[in-house]
Amino acid sequence: MILILDFGSQYTQLIARRIREANVYCEIFPGTKDIKEIQNINNIEAVILSGGPASVYEKNAPYPCDEIWEMNVPILGICYGVHLIAQQFGGKVKPSKNREYGFADISVEKDNILFSGLENKMPVWMSHGDKLTKMPKGFVNIASSKNCTAASIVNTEKNIYGVQFHPEVQHSPFGKKILDNFLFKVCKVKKDWTMKSYIKDEIARIKKQVGNGKVLCALSGGVDSSVAAIMLHKAIGKKLFCVYVDHGLQKLGETERVRKVFGKKFGKNLIICDSKKLFLTKLKGVTDPEQKRKIIGHTFIEVFEKEAKKLKGIDFLLQGTIYPDVIESAKIGTGVTIKSHHNVGGLPEKMKMKLVEPLKSLFKDEVRTLGRELGIPDEIIDRQPFPGPGLAVRTLGEITEEKLRIVKEADAIVDEEIRKAGLYEKIWQSFAVILPVKTVGVMGDKRTYEHVIVVRAVNSEDAMTADWVKLPYELLGSISSRIINEVRGANRVVYDISQKPPSTIEWE
Ligand code: XMP
Repeated sequence: MILILDFGSQYTQLIARRIREANVYCEIFPGTKDIKEIQNINNIEAVILSGGPASVYEKNAPYPCDEIWEMNVPILGICYGVHLIAQQFGGKVKPSKNREYGFADISVEKDNILFSGLENKMPVWMSHGDKLTKMPKGFVNIASSKNCTAASIVNTEKNIYGVQFHPEVQHSPFGKKILDNFLFKVCKVKKDWTMKSYIKDEIARIKKQVGNGKVLCALSGGVDSSVAAIMLHKAIGKKLFCVYVDHGLQKLGETERVRKVFGKKFGKNLIICDSKKLFLTKLKGVTDPEQKRKIIGHTFIEVFEKEAKKLKGIDFLLQGTIYPDVIESAKIGTGVTIKSHHNVGGLPEKMKMKLVEPLKSLFKDEVRTLGRELGIPDEIIDRQPFPGPGLAVRTLGEITEEKLRIVKEADAIVDEEIRKAGLYEKIWQSFAVILPVKTVGVMGDKRTYEHVIVVRAVNSEDAMTADWVKLPYELLGSISSRIINEVRGANRVVYDISQKPPSTIEWE
């Protein structure tokens, strides 16, 4: 395994993803992690020091523990990581007069295994304000750019490498090759991280953890909970119990889909809990978005706990936590407080059960690959993200049975048309929203006074920022005419052309 020490770079996750894509296992840890904890990690084959916003000469700059340099494994420093190497071996780092942000051309000046198989000149992505002004002892310069004489340094004897640029980002087109050279030519690691090997190892781990215990799962039908459930079923079979709370806020046909995909496999261990009335009653008259969220969260836990009690003797709760949740909760870079993460607000704390988390070390794309490997149908694996409180955040104003029916039907049309146009997998999220206002229309010589449907389609990398999709007019036209013609209770369709920020993806 490759140990990535994080010093706060916005690209650290990308380093991990590139390495995993090369079929090598790696994990990210806070850069200042104590050696005792590092010693507990098995089979470290190399260490990568990430970039970061600090300057090594600052008072409180984060440093790795001294023992890192004595581990006798290859080390690669990226950006701030190079500066750490320089400090350690008697080099000097200073603020640069010419900061480099964006593309830069580097020239490889000395043959080195790190650049093996590459041309002598290549574009790379730079993002630094500091630079090396004195070469550390025992190191040589192997590449440079216009503003950076030490774009890459190496100490072959100690097997320590440094790159000032970011090989992990897509803007460094040859970065993958450089990382591969480090992994396979310098570290000589094996390509043994595959989903097949993961399934085998993880099943053994789950069996050991669970023993004869019983595991409870809140199945939502989303990608993570579905893959986690199938994985557990493969490991422990009938000792897994899945509760699907049908709160009525899912997409059209969702409950039937869940029954179809999981019913046969799980048999009586799939408990579908029809709670549509309970949720509607609790949400009656409520219009405040945050209050709606709270009510949905609490009611969900209430229903779920009731079902869990009926099952008796449950020891574990299955959680679909994925690796980005783990990394984000660990506040990497400073190594302080770890907050607990959960998909179903408050459930683990409340139920005081031990957790089983089979996806905890996987990125989202790896979860999808795993799901496919486990034979889960594409209609589940390739789903766009769907919010926990479901259509409640897309039903503005009071939630009523009628408004839910309208938004579900409209949403199904958006879904169908977007898929038909071949755009579903290319779009981050596309959906319908129902507004709490009515407008006047005319249908077949009659005056109508009905709801407005908003169509929203956004593209995003991580849901932090998003842009509206420039859908073809013909597609918008067919979505609009189908909704108005086919959905009783809607007589107007508008398209949302707002960016996040300042708007958000969902309307509530
Ligand atoms: P916003 O609306 O904040 O959404 O731009 C960002 C992403 O998060 C999803 N979302 C939620 N997911 N519970 C969830 O599990 C929620 O309460 C919730 N609100 C928004 C949203 O669909 C988008 O992908």
